[in-house]
Amino acid sequence: RTQLRGDEVIVVSNREPYTHEVNDGELVVRRPASGLVTAVEPVMRACSGTWIAHGSGSGDRKAVDRHDRVALPPGQQDYLLRRIWLTPEQEQGYYYGFANEGLWPLCHVAHVRPVFREGDWEHYRAVNQLFADAVVAEARSEDPVVLVQDYHFALLPAMVRRRLPRATILTFWHIPWPNPESFGICPWRSEILEGMLGSTILGFHTRFHCKNFIETVDRYLEARIEHEHSTISFGGEQTLVEAYPISIEWPSPEAAREWPSPGQCRAEVFERLGIPHAHRVAVGVDRFDYTKGILERLNAVERMLEKYPEWRDRITFVQVAAPSRSALEEYRSFRERIERATERINARFGRPEAPVIRLLAQHHEHEEVNKLYRAADVCLVTSLHDGMNLVCKEFVAARDDERGVLILSRFAGAAREMPEALIVNPYHVEETADALQQALTMPPAEQRERMASLRSTVHEFNVYRWAGRMLTDAARLRLRQRVSERV
Ligand code: G6P
Repeated sequence: RTQLRGDEVIVVSNREPYTHEVNDGELVVRRPASGLVTAVEPVMRACSGTWIAHGSGSGDRKAVDRHDRVALPPGQQDYLLRRIWLTPEQEQGYYYGFANEGLWPLCHVAHVRPVFREGDWEHYRAVNQLFADAVVAEARSEDPVVLVQDYHFALLPAMVRRRLPRATILTFWHIPWPNPESFGICPWRSEILEGMLGSTILGFHTRFHCKNFIETVDRYLEARIEHEHSTISFGGEQTLVEAYPISIEWPSPEAAREWPSPGQCRAEVFERLGIPHAHRVAVGVDRFDYTKGILERLNAVERMLEKYPEWRDRITFVQVAAPSRSALEEYRSFRERIERATERINARFGRPEAPVIRLLAQHHEHEEVNKLYRAADVCLVTSLHDGMNLVCKEFVAARDDERGVLILSRFAGAAREMPEALIVNPYHVEETADALQQALTMPPAEQRERMASLRSTVHEFNVYRWAGRMLTDAARLRLRQRVSERV
């Protein structure tokens, strides 16, 4: 907050931080499952300002939102939420089409072929313009700080830059950036890069993604790159390209004091799911997305039971999978494959009253997920490719008893910060199965040692550190701009 004293902050993201729905006359407020929302919302609560997002609570728009501006839940009045409502065609083309069938698989190396359609691109461009217009309309000063979030808005930075040349535009790309060859198959690669270079600062999770981006620009645009300062000059503007690893809000001691003890969490979870008392519990928490390695994880559980028969009828694996982008065929068929694998493994190793795999295919609120984390012996994060992944950080934050083992994919950005986890290649089923066996037999002292170290990292490098570093860089660049204007 101190870095931005007196400055105006505007956030732009596709996903809204809260959905409001009216059910039987009652307002129901929910937090969507999104790493972006988990990270940016606490920052926005601290900065205040305006958050512009796509309104997704379709159908009840009128009941919820008469003035196109929505109040936050009680106690959360620190910033204003301005929703942009899209037509079904715009949502289809911009969100499902170009963003999620084009850019999402393009940037994740998950072997799902990206699809590029001219019509989706037109909608993507038009919706970026719509949001850019909203930024300009909301801005009260000529030099606001605009925080642009993610791959839904690659074109928006340059659009805002043209209209508000003195704005400080910070764009954060929450997903990986691929190498130039992979990115080069996008028919609109130059437009995307030019759009992003409207940013004052362009942030990625890791140095590796920054390097890929700079190499991509080098390959496809006539731009000046200063490797030493990690800046790109293009069209008279300069963009700083930096790594800012995203994180979570570390729970306050007051909040943590309110949590039920791990023993109580365990009793509750076992009771609710009917898990036999003698069982150990492993958990996975994801959106239902093909990048998360859920199938590979199930195969590893199966392989572990083949290879280490002593665990048969002694372990339950609980997979929370929040439905995501289900209007897309790729997501629907992925879900079916997971359901089939679950049935197969349960038929092979489970009993009807004690299945091995419990697939909970619905949205869970954070409080319930936190209980599950505290009840678990092991947490599995096996993404095939992930910008950062915040589930592993939330698991660690939940374990103030310093117990539980984290198994983490080497292909999640988080693996670089969390080497005390058991790091695996999720494509290697044998290795993941062995890691599961190692986790289940790990002595408490070793669990404690690893967990204590992980906790101190995530505590220190929390989401305020992420935002703080970016905003400090922004403040420095703003000062430089003011000084140079005075000369
Ligand atoms: C990833 C993306 C976010 C997105 C989230 C949920 O974390 O980086 O931008 O909000 O997935 O996906 P959804 O399409 O439901 O918003």
